[in-house]
Amino acid sequence: MEQVTLTINDRRISCPVGTTVLQAARREGIRIPTLCDHPALEPVGACRLCLVEEETGRLTAACVTPATSGMVIRTDSPRITKHRRNIVRLLMAEHPESCLVCNKGNRCGLRAIAAELGVGETGLYPMPASRAFEQANRFIIRDLSKCVLCGKCIRADHELVAVGAIDYNLRGFLSRPATAHERPLEASTCTFCGTCLSICPTGALSLRNDHYVGTPQHEVGSVCGFCGVGCSLSLGVGGGQLLEVNPGRQEGSVNGPTLCIRGHFGQDFLRAGDRLRSPLIRKNGELEEETWDGALELVSERLMAIKEKFGPQSIGFLGSSKCSNEENYLFQKMARVVFGTNHVDNGTCLSGRPALMSMREKLGTFFRLGPLKKLESAEVLFLLGADPTQSSPVVGYHLKRAAMKGIPVIVVDPRQTDMSRLSSNWLPLNPGSDLMLLNGVAALIAREEEVLGSLSEGLAEDFRDFQHQITSLDMTQICRVTGMSEGSLAKVAGMLRGRKTVFVVGHGVLQQPVSRKIMEALFNLSALTGNTGLRENRFLVLTYENNEAGAWDMGTVPDTLPGFQPLNRSDFRKSWERAWKVGLSPDPGLSIIRMIQEAEKGHIKALYVMGENPVRSLPQSETVRKALQNLEFLVVQDIVKTETVQLAHVVLPGAAFAEKSGSFTNMEGRIQGFEPAALPPGGAKADWEILDLLLKKTGYPETYGSLEKIRGEIAGLVPEYKDIAGPVPGGWVHAGKPETDPQEREQGDEPGFFPVHVCENTMKEDTYPFTVILGSFRCHLGSGTRTSRSERIGGGGWKGEIEISEKDSITLGFSEGDIIRVESPAGFVERAMRVEKRLSPGLILVPKGFAENDAMNLLPLKDVDDEGFGGWITCSARVNRVGE
Ligand code: SF4
Ligand code: SF4
Ligand code: SF4
Ligand code: FES
Repeated sequence: MEQVTLTINDRRISCPVGTTVLQAARREGIRIPTLCDHPALEPVGACRLCLVEEETGRLTAACVTPATSGMVIRTDSPRITKHRRNIVRLLMAEHPESCLVCNKGNRCGLRAIAAELGVGETGLYPMPASRAFEQANRFIIRDLSKCVLCGKCIRADHELVAVGAIDYNLRGFLSRPATAHERPLEASTCTFCGTCLSICPTGALSLRNDHYVGTPQHEVGSVCGFCGVGCSLSLGVGGGQLLEVNPGRQEGSVNGPTLCIRGHFGQDFLRAGDRLRSPLIRKNGELEEETWDGALELVSERLMAIKEKFGPQSIGFLGSSKCSNEENYLFQKMARVVFGTNHVDNGTCLSGRPALMSMREKLGTFFRLGPLKKLESAEVLFLLGADPTQSSPVVGYHLKRAAMKGIPVIVVDPRQTDMSRLSSNWLPLNPGSDLMLLNGVAALIAREEEVLGSLSEGLAEDFRDFQHQITSLDMTQICRVTGMSEGSLAKVAGMLRGRKTVFVVGHGVLQQPVSRKIMEALFNLSALTGNTGLRENRFLVLTYENNEAGAWDMGTVPDTLPGFQPLNRSDFRKSWERAWKVGLSPDPGLSIIRMIQEAEKGHIKALYVMGENPVRSLPQSETVRKALQNLEFLVVQDIVKTETVQLAHVVLPGAAFAEKSGSFTNMEGRIQGFEPAALPPGGAKADWEILDLLLKKTGYPETYGSLEKIRGEIAGLVPEYKDIAGPVPGGWVHAGKPETDPQEREQGDEPGFFPVHVCENTMKEDTYPFTVILGSFRCHLGSGTRTSRSERIGGGGWKGEIEISEKDSITLGFSEGDIIRVESPAGFVERAMRVEKRLSPGLILVPKGFAENDAMNLLPLKDVDDEGFGGWITCSARVNRVGE
């Protein structure tokens, strides 16, 4: 890279062309005060505090001045200091005298600079700005009398999260950051991500608390415990309590200076009134407090007795994609080694795991893309059934930034989403027709002979057969099923051909019954377009919960041992038998859906649930409740008094992520460690500690006593996790490609094409003429067990109204606010409705996470890959107004 050489404070400095004077000085450790500069934002030169003096005597703002060869700069001359002091004095004169009671307190950038420059009394007539004060929303207080017009909030909103809710309004003294027409934030497009709040240097934007909670005394780096992005957090702590959350300061984090509403504001669920504080056991129908020793003794005794009497297959274990890697490892080990059963699962069954499991078995990879920032350097982005701005908002920011840079984005989604509005090509296909759409695009590309020349050896061998299969498909049928014209498919084919494309796959695909076939069709398409994705990691699968990837890697799944080693392979079983010094059952375990079904029939007698709430998260809550009530023994280990906890015979109180140590693996395959920031309530303990104590109670000879010992064992046995031995403090290691299958193909080898599958979209029935989509809403994750306990999110005013298209609402005679019933063959939900102009006629959106997650009543209690099942993302329904 071409270099320039300049002199700053008599030091000769070389730096790449394009570096600003400020950046050049910082590289050399030369401090220049700034207020409006931020490394993640485009510089604007608004505050002028970074003034430096050139040899010519010219004063210039270092943040916007490119370093050029031969420049001679002083950053600390008396003249500059005088100018900087004057700027601060003017700012202070305009500032209200409320520093003592300001939420920003000692963290205020303006106060820090005033102190650094020795500005106390301004010596000017105070003229405090009179600007808007707003605190109606539950998240951010805006006291713009403290605004120094640095513009960081506006740039963060535009450049980082790409929302555009605020901009400069008015001029001169009246100028301020504001929404369009000065509406309150909640009436704007603001998503309450809080990025502007964290980046604001003064108290102009501050965190709203309903009651005084105190000021953070120190910060602890952590990892968000909500979704699979794994954002880095900085937890502000005081008095052993978590008081505020900001984006982590760690270099190279997945989120930089951004967060989403859940990560920023939803962590107050830790203060929920129903946090579990002590072990409970059921006596005479009521849950009563018990000592840890007494409760664990009872768990061990009852589970052992049930194993003895009914056999190991009578006990099930439901682990959690919210718990740490170490906890999941211990949990499944206990199930397999101590209780002899493979009935182990975790909440990722809700994320369309069957497709991913089968793909990983076939392809030996989990499609880990590597750093998410790669999205911003793709040549084309292809989103299939993915709505990341709601489900994984920080992925949404990467994608929106990519779109703003001009990278073409293709969105395949029946609904208009935030991404479809920014896309270059939106394909509003009929729900459930993704497979046919991919086939259609692939057929158009495969017709062209020159494709053959671009294929790798393995694919070229297969091409003729594949070409014959795919081009024999009836394009008229494809267009009918998908609702797309051949021209629109051809346009997509043209955009993909020969371009480095990243395919982003979401739950809209993974939760379909034919998800495995869709993934195979996607691989065929990627191979045809020169995107041999396996070699180049061109697939991003949006994992839902924070540690979905880790829970799979740790073997908290029925048919797979840690390190994704298939249970049905005797060589793998034997190696784990040697490691664990015990024989393992070869019987494939049951998924949680099957465990519930077997509990209903009386075959499963006991269930141990750690960190999941199946009564709320699974379809048909009443059926699940009855099945759990049918158990002889139910142990629930959790942090709050969930619907499932209320049915338990023994309750074990766990610590939340911010109250313990551990590690999570995000959707990139990044393993991130975290340490405790706050104290767990009462006698609650980390889940790994509870499991370790229980192992001891059962008489298992090897227990751990420390997290390091568990990590050491994982590192020695699971190759992708070899680097986690010892502490993983806030940093990250990358879980590489599995190296566990001796028959695995060589790195770089591609499999041939997958067989071509077709499917008719048979979802519509006359009696159920509408198609319901169960959608994510960014304030809630999954069933909403945690986010609904957040005071701020709960009080945010969102009700999760059912959305209906304008045309249907007119035809049906519905008005905004009407209470309507949406009824599927499996059940119904009743909620208020609202008209959504972006929805196509025939589609209804029911947001998940609201109202005890009753949206799941629309689905039958079936595994996502069950024959004849419509999947977990859509269903057929009819609709009427309640009372008619
Ligand atoms: S909270 Fe987020 S979306 Fe709202 S104005 Fe601030 S940066 Fe923009
Ligand atoms: S509100 Fe804060 S970030 Fe925004 S311009 Fe004012 S001082 Fe800067
Ligand atoms: S995007 Fe996901 S990981 Fe990041 S802050 Fe939001 S919920 Fe947390
Ligand atoms: S930091 Fe350079 S003008 Fe504000």
